[in-house]
Amino acid sequence: MLGPPGAGKGTQAGRLAAEVRAVHLSSGDILRAERAARSPLGRQAQAYMDGGTLVPDELVLEMMANRIESPEAQNGFVLDGFPRTIPQARGLDECLERLGRPIDRVINIDAADEVVAPRLTGRWSCPVDGRVYHDMFSPPARAGKCDECGAALVRRKDDEPAVVRQRLATYHGQTKPLIEYYRQRGVLATVDGNADIGAVFASVCAAVRGIG
Ligand code: AP5
Repeated sequence: MLGPPGAGKGTQAGRLAAEVRAVHLSSGDILRAERAARSPLGRQAQAYMDGGTLVPDELVLEMMANRIESPEAQNGFVLDGFPRTIPQARGLDECLERLGRPIDRVINIDAADEVVAPRLTGRWSCPVDGRVYHDMFSPPARAGKCDECGAALVRRKDDEPAVVRQRLATYHGQTKPLIEYYRQRGVLATVDGNADIGAVFASVCAAVRGIG
């Protein structure tokens, strides 16, 4: 899943992974878990994440290659938030070539900056199972509690307006070139991420239909 912060990559990747019985591998979620565990990687990643810039390629590549090669990913995986730079995409190519598992589809969720910014400032996340909610667009059944496990929902520190501005600038400068990278390989499908969650999911399913 490609797209700016708040495009709905996590929301759609979670639904798609459940639909096709694949594992959802979110680089952001994995990094947040490393931080929560206070691992060496989590400590190295902290300042980059809080400032809205990218964690260095070599750290992210090793982390994601380990997940892609793990037994849990053997039946397939939906990548969310990775790769995020051209060097990461090249590293992913090498990893998948080693495994003999090509990319089926790259879904680019296209959404305007003025649409995604309010999605981030209204977002709530479950610290236990990673489910994502929104004050207006996807509220939990009970205010402040996860529908699935009942845990108290939290706001992400990098959803502060100033950090959101930096994350959008990082996306436009470093991640957007991947759209052309994957277009040239013939695996890119762009969906309209400005629509509501259900409509975007229908477009995502249409884009992956026929794989397998
Ligand atoms: P990461 O966690 O990946 O953040 P992000 O890419 O900025 O993406 P978000 O999680 O903010 O947005 P999303 O597109 O997943 O939207 P969501 O579905 O949650 O990365 C965080 C940080 O980690 C980075 O800044 C970086 O420092 C580091 N990092 C991560 N990966 C890295 C990498 N590969 N390399 C280097 N560093 C890396 O939806 C957002 C909100 O909108 C939710 O509230 C949701 O309910 C709502 N919503 C979703 N879709 C819709 C819709 N269609 N209509 C209305 N509301 C919607």
